[in-house]
Amino acid sequence: MDSILVTGNGPVNGQIPIAGAKNACLTLMPATLLSEEPLTLTNAPRLSDIKTMTALLQSLGAEVSSLQDGQVQAMSSHDLTSQTADYEIVRKMRASNLVLGPLLARFGHAVVSLPGGCAIGARPMDLHVEGLEALGAEIELKDGYLYAKAPGGLKGAVHEMRFASVGATENIVMAATLAKGTTVLKNAAREPEIVDLVECLRKMGAQIAGEGTSTIEIQGVDRLHGATHQVVTDRIELGTYMLAPAICGGEVELLGGRMRLVESFAAKLDAAGVSVTETDKGLKVARKNGRVSAVDVVTEPFPGFPTDLQAQMMALMCTAEGTSVLEERIFENRFMHAPELVRMGANIEVHGGTATVTGVERLKGAPVMATDLRASVSLILAGLAAEGETTVSRVYHLDRGYEHVVRKLEGVGAKIERIKGQ
Ligand code: EPZ
Repeated sequence: MDSILVTGNGPVNGQIPIAGAKNACLTLMPATLLSEEPLTLTNAPRLSDIKTMTALLQSLGAEVSSLQDGQVQAMSSHDLTSQTADYEIVRKMRASNLVLGPLLARFGHAVVSLPGGCAIGARPMDLHVEGLEALGAEIELKDGYLYAKAPGGLKGAVHEMRFASVGATENIVMAATLAKGTTVLKNAAREPEIVDLVECLRKMGAQIAGEGTSTIEIQGVDRLHGATHQVVTDRIELGTYMLAPAICGGEVELLGGRMRLVESFAAKLDAAGVSVTETDKGLKVARKNGRVSAVDVVTEPFPGFPTDLQAQMMALMCTAEGTSVLEERIFENRFMHAPELVRMGANIEVHGGTATVTGVERLKGAPVMATDLRASVSLILAGLAAEGETTVSRVYHLDRGYEHVVRKLEGVGAKIERIKGQ
């Protein structure tokens, strides 16, 4: 297994290009199942998760070709041969469950493996099932698979979700586009990836309003047609690299970044003493004056502070002036980066869903282990500012969500290299 060697090397300066959003692409790709006509996505990120989704769609009989070095996903679901998403693929990536809504809407039946737990939590699918049952689906859990059917087709309904689940919102909205009648989804998730999905569905002929708010209204149509859609910028990659100048000093411009994607995160950085200014090319980030100050963080559904940036923010708080309390309200086990940061000299106490971080002057490089996607990059950020060398192992986690990390950080002066595993 490869590892990444980072050496503390002072301030970072320059530009980092931000790719298309992994979490938008992973819901846009299943949307191809809703139509017989081709769907093409541009600005797609080149990540292992995209390859996994490609394999899943191909296992259903869809044609998926990655053009222009993977930045374009040209797909056609004209001749699907299966409506079953196997455990072997789904267990590797939870987002595979996003084929459930489209398959059910287009074919009236689907068999999708439950994803099973992952490092950050149990990650059940009850909110997906409740929403699809509200549209008339009959769903049974057997041998770890959801057997879903809607023989007479789905019917529009008014449904309020108990929690603003991102994936459940995406599955329900996609299914509702082909249901008979009107669906009103209440307490819907408001993430930019959902806005991006709706904009793509609208280009395919769907009739939807309210995306980005807590109430989304969908008028079912008989069929959807093909489209071409550009994947929205990845706000989590954006937020991650905004932290590089915050942790190391210097000034970095994140190309493609827009303030609307990271409002609450940028506000937290501002409170910590890091300026974020929008330019015509992206977002420029730099410390306002020396050492950052500790700030408290609570993760919430969008537009609150993103859970996917909690681990990275903790790395910044490790060397902040004062004590920061980070509360993780979305996932039940998302502090596995904490013990690794402690190995680097951080002062962190975890009690249940709360981590208390007392800033130290400087971290010390050490061998550390990536435990999940966002934890892996938080350790790299810590290593950028630490004294000496940090080796981050198990970087396959990193490859799921970040393309060209070494190249992007080297480009702003970081001392970082990828070490090929045995
Ligand atoms: C999406 O996951 C993202 N993944 C996650 O990003 C992100 O952390 C999460 O939304 C929250 O923003 C993709 O978009 C592919 P949820 P999702 O349904 O849809 C519970 C990353 O690092 N829940 O909003 O699975 C669930 O257990 C990944 O890129 C239920 O209880 O998130 C969790 O505690 C990690 N029942 C909470 O809700 C359900 O039926 C949020 O889950 C569904 C979810």
